[in-house]
Amino acid sequence: MRRISPVLQQDGVEPDLIALLKTILAACREIAFRVSQGELAGVLGSTLGENIQGETQKKLDVIANELLKEVILETGVVKAISSEEEDTIVAGNPHGKYLVTFDPLDGSSNTDINSLIGTIFSILPADPDKAPDDSSLFLQPGTAQVAAGYVLYGPSTMLALTTGHGTRLYTLDNTYGGFLLTEDQAAIPKYTTEFAINMSNQRFWQEPMQRYVADLLLGKTGPRGKNFNMRWIAAMVGDVHRVLCRGGIFAYPRDSKDPQKPDKLRLMYEANPMSFLVEQAGGMSSTGYQRIMEIVPTDIHQRVAVILGSKHEVETCIGYHKA
Ligand code: AHG
Ligand code: MN
Ligand code: MN
Ligand code: MN
Repeated sequence: MRRISPVLQQDGVEPDLIALLKTILAACREIAFRVSQGELAGVLGSTLGENIQGETQKKLDVIANELLKEVILETGVVKAISSEEEDTIVAGNPHGKYLVTFDPLDGSSNTDINSLIGTIFSILPADPDKAPDDSSLFLQPGTAQVAAGYVLYGPSTMLALTTGHGTRLYTLDNTYGGFLLTEDQAAIPKYTTEFAINMSNQRFWQEPMQRYVADLLLGKTGPRGKNFNMRWIAAMVGDVHRVLCRGGIFAYPRDSKDPQKPDKLRLMYEANPMSFLVEQAGGMSSTGYQRIMEIVPTDIHQRVAVILGSKHEVETCIGYHKA
C-alpha cells in the first residue's frame, strides 16, 4: 500500500502544499488519539463557552481547534486561518502562500455517544497583495480551492483527500503511524436509492424540498417508481463518507425553524470542502438553485443550503426547485 507523499508527488502537488497537508494530518492523528481515549482522556463533555455560531462548545471542539491552529500557523506557508470555532480569522506568515479553513470537529454532539465525528479542511491560495489580517482574503468561491479533505474518526481513522486529481481515500495505519492509500479513486454511483436528511425539520422546509422528499417516501407507488432507504448520522462527515463509499443523496436544506438561521451548514468549513470531494468523485453539489462551489462568499461564517451526492439524484432534486 502506498504512503501519501508519493501519491501527491505523482499528482504534481507543490512540495509546500504536501508539507502543509502532512502537518494538518499530524494534528488529526493527535485528535484521533484523544478521541479514541474517550472519557479516559477527560476530553468529553461541554465547556462553558459558546462559539460565534451560537453553539455550546464541546471540550473536543476547543482542543481540536487549538491543535490545528497551532501546527498550521507554525508551517510558515500559511497566511491566515479561519475556523468554525474562531470569531475572526487568525493571521499567520504575511508571505504565506496558502489559507486554511477548517471545521476542527464535525458532528461534535456525537462525542457524547461514542459515534462518528471528523475534521474537515480546505486550502485556498492567498492573495500576496493583502494583509494577513484582512478577512477578505477568504472571500473566494469553492472553485479556487487547491485541496480539501476530511479525517473521519470512526472504527478506523480514514482520510478523504482531493487536490483536483480525483478523490482518494486513505486509512490510518497505527502501527506505521501514517495514512496509507486504500481507495485510489472514489466513484459515487450516478443512481441511488438512499437519502440522508433530518426529517424532523420537514414541516419547516421550503416547498420544493417538501415535494421532493414526499415523492421519495411514496416509493415504488409514487412518481419515482422505486423505494428509498434513509440514513442520518448527524455528522456531515459520516454522511458524506457513506455517499463517497456507496452513493446516496445528502441534504441539509434551508428551513424556517429559526428565522435568524435559515441555513445550517457553513460554506467555508463544511459545504465547499465536501463539494470539492464529491465533485471529484463524480457526484454533484448544489443549493438547489446554484452550484455550491460557485458561490462568492460575503462573510467567513456564511451558511448555505446543501444538496449533494449521486449525480442523477441531485439533478432530480434540483428539478423540483425549477418547477
Ligand atoms: P458541527 O458539529 O461541526 O457544529 O456540525 C454539525 C452539523 C453537521 O455535521 C451535521 O450534518 C448537522 O450539523 C447535524 O444537524 P442536526 O442536529 O440537525 O441533525
Ligand atoms: Mn459546531
Ligand atoms: Mn460541522
Ligand atoms: Mn464543528
